[in-house]
Amino acid sequence: MRIKFGTYKPAEGPEEIPVFWDSEKVMNSHFTVIGPSGSGKTTRLRRLMAGMSLVNSRIRFVVLDPHGDMGVSGEDSFRFSATSDLGLNPLTVREDPDYGGVTRAIETFLKTISRTSRPLGSKQEHTLHNILLDLYAYLGFHADRPETWNLRYDDRRNPEMPKRHPTVKTLKWFMERKMTQVFLGTSSETVAALDDLSRKLRSMDRAIKKEIRGEETSVDIDKLKDRCRELFERFLEGMSDGQEVSALFRYGNKEVLQSCYERICNLERSGLFRADTYEFDPAAAIWRYDLSALSSDGQRMAVDFILDDIFAAARGEGQKPETVMFVLLDESHKFVSPEADHIISVWAREARKFGLGLILSSQNLTDFPDEILAQMGTKFVLGVDPIFLDRAAKKLKVEPRRLEGIQTHKSSIIAIKNKGDSGTRWLDMTLV
Ligand SMILES: Nc1ncnc2c1ncn2[C@@H]1O[C@H](COP(=O)(O)OP(=O)(O)OP(=O)(O)O)[C@@H](O)[C@H]1O
Ligand SMILES: [Mg+2]
Repeated sequence: MRIKFGTYKPAEGPEEIPVFWDSEKVMNSHFTVIGPSGSGKTTRLRRLMAGMSLVNSRIRFVVLDPHGDMGVSGEDSFRFSATSDLGLNPLTVREDPDYGGVTRAIETFLKTISRTSRPLGSKQEHTLHNILLDLYAYLGFHADRPETWNLRYDDRRNPEMPKRHPTVKTLKWFMERKMTQVFLGTSSETVAALDDLSRKLRSMDRAIKKEIRGEETSVDIDKLKDRCRELFERFLEGMSDGQEVSALFRYGNKEVLQSCYERICNLERSGLFRADTYEFDPAAAIWRYDLSALSSDGQRMAVDFILDDIFAAARGEGQKPETVMFVLLDESHKFVSPEADHIISVWAREARKFGLGLILSSQNLTDFPDEILAQMGTKFVLGVDPIFLDRAAKKLKVEPRRLEGIQTHKSSIIAIKNKGDSGTRWLDMTLV
């Protein structure tokens, strides 16, 4: 597939030469389009999609649209919103024995919710991990048994309902049930005694340390010891099946469990998570997710989950010699991360092999990790604000005067890295 991007005038000779992007020659199908607001990124990307669709109608574009302004005719689009019955279900277990499974689903879910403005604490992560493992097992999915990672195989005894994947809503319900069992139910007295006991032991420990250091302490250590004995007895008497304590170890104390529960309630309210997902029309070349109604955390989670899902599906299908799908992400500086295991970094490094291309557009070049920029086969600069000129020139390894020379909507600079090329060669390109 060959697409004409513009023309440039070489130093030798007076003629304008066309600049082609050739899918057979490029190092990979990844693009970055950079330019300040109004420089024409969205317009350019629309044209790029239209141009590629004309040449190859089998190519699929998935547009992740944070502003909701990337709509094109002939597309199929879905808008996430609090009032929609459809959304994403990040807790779906993938069957693939190598890349799917319960543990992977749990890790991706926890990592993604932790990448928002409120990272999970290590105790919360531990608690949620165990709750999720128990929830999956309760629903018939076992982390250590790949044959259970589907809806067909069901060896639960007396299931109340047909086997189904958990959702954020199911998780919330399960947590309520656990909290009631542990803190209010039959074992609550035992658990409260143990909780109380550990608190008392901690204050006794502090008092003893103070005494050793020769400091004053108002605590009556002997009295505290008696109280501990009492609590321990109460705890032992209340024990019936030994499950009471293991629940505490698995789920942490009341505060941790409560904070995890609140977090899950917030996720449920975000308007992103539902049991059922939108089925895009296979006949439409462009599938657009309108993310504009989501909060910035919601957008970030949506982008991560969608990219993870597409990547896992493509990897399951195996390697492909040519690009069959492009994912286009506008405002991408808000979503990239310098972490090597973040899904956008993984796409930049590995997606090519599985027939995937990544198109990142951004107003802000300076927030872009070099590791990701270096993996982009094509870099397209539609303009740079004078304030960022020097920094941008350094980052892109181009002379500042060439960035300065860009005329909005008329010219640009572009670097297309073809297989076998060494270094980056920037062309001053007149746009078509
Ligand atoms: N090559 C062009 N010639 C003339 N007008 C153009 C050209 N490209 C874009 N425009 C116009 O410029 C305006 C801004 O374009 P566009 O929305 O594509 O910019 P953008 O870089 O995506 O901006 P933002 O970062 O704010 O989303 C639009 O009105 C568009 O029609
Ligand atoms: Mg735009």
